Amino acid sequence: MNDIAASSFFDPQVIADPFDYYRAWLPKSPVVQLSDGMFLVLSYDLCAQATGEVDTFSNNFQGTLSGAMAEDGDVAAILSEGWPQVDTLLTADPPVHTRFRKLVNLAFSMKRVAAIEEDMRGVVIDLIDRMAAKGEADFVQDFGIPLPVAMIASQIGMTNDDLDKVKRWSDAFVDRLGRMIPKERELECAREVVEFQHFVKAKIDERRANRTDDLLSDLVYAEVDGERPLEDAEILSIMQQLMVAGNETTTSALAGGLLQLIENPDQMAKAVAAADEGNERAIINLVEEVLRIESPTAGMWRMVLKDAELGGVAIPKGAMVQLRYAAANRDPAKYPDPDRFDMERTNARSHLAFGKGIHMCVGNMLSRKEMAVAYSELLTRLTDFRVAEGHTPSWPPNMLLRGLTALPITFRRRA
Ligand code: HEM
Repeated sequence: MNDIAASSFFDPQVIADPFDYYRAWLPKSPVVQLSDGMFLVLSYDLCAQATGEVDTFSNNFQGTLSGAMAEDGDVAAILSEGWPQVDTLLTADPPVHTRFRKLVNLAFSMKRVAAIEEDMRGVVIDLIDRMAAKGEADFVQDFGIPLPVAMIASQIGMTNDDLDKVKRWSDAFVDRLGRMIPKERELECAREVVEFQHFVKAKIDERRANRTDDLLSDLVYAEVDGERPLEDAEILSIMQQLMVAGNETTTSALAGGLLQLIENPDQMAKAVAAADEGNERAIINLVEEVLRIESPTAGMWRMVLKDAELGGVAIPKGAMVQLRYAAANRDPAKYPDPDRFDMERTNARSHLAFGKGIHMCVGNMLSRKEMAVAYSELLTRLTDFRVAEGHTPSWPPNMLLRGLTALPITFRRRA
């Protein structure tokens, strides 16, 4: 395993299953140079350090990544029927980021998450009942996808009939980011973006006329001293980011965690006991350990604004750096026996699955709650989870996100 070449990181097989690569490189070089302008950061300490140096390691990478791909004229014509795309949150640096983050923090509060917990539990139980009625399921399709989609949808005032739209729009945003799609799909995605914008704009107008008790209203009415409230185009961009950042990641965490439990019967037994006892602390730690070991956002870009040094490695201005949160979360210097899934790990919560610093995931409380409610209800209602015979779980190659596309399972209702 020690002869894995630095440059092989981009091999689809390595990206799909990168853990041998991390194990080979982390001890000898926590910052790996892949090519002249591209570096990987693998260790916990250095990933954490880079997230704190925002003047050097910038999140404003969108332009660089897509700069070579000027918007096609036909695509631009479709997009002109909507609102301009504004860099908010993930792809913005201070002071632009600071303003958005302050306003969005107001909307994404613990209070909001607590207020939707009851609805969330209702959605979870309903999804479990539907799976149980079939006796088998693809956990990704039947649970992992619909739960986060339903939670975001309800916060923008959508009904159950609209749910497939949210998934369709989320997929379009993600495909546009990936950019490796044929022109026909580009056009289709642009139409989806415009459809989404008009849909949400109508919901914004409704809320400007009449405040409702949901996240979208919180965004519309968010006010912080000295900051101008959010404009329509800004709210639309934020909602778009919430869908891109929040749906697939939570799906991957939910499914990856269930697979960990299935593959580790001793941990499954502990988790079931915790759920039966209503031991919230144990379930919360289970969620943290799932996030650590699964790290659905496996890596995130930073653009280097000035000549820098990280772990003794010189990184020139203009370079692109990938903070590999998934590698950091299995750094043996931080997590002894890092590949072991251990729901009692005492420092599980220190993981970098949500990043760290000013860009730390704004949806972390929401997805943590979704996972905790999901595992508690799944484990108290169903039992004897197994991966369906003949299925071998696999992860499609993706530079940033890592997640199962399918998880066919069998199970029984608990007596
Ligand atoms: C298990 C689920 C999730 C994971 C693993 C995850 C992971 C992350 C990570 C690693 C970052 C930091 C990126 C960086 O370092 O630049 C981030 C930021 C972000 N996440 Fe999440 N996320 C999850 C769920 C969510 C949800 C549910 C939402 C919203 C509904 C969300 C919205 C965002 C947004 C808007 C940002 C950008 C924040 C900023 O730049 O200030 N995420 N997420």
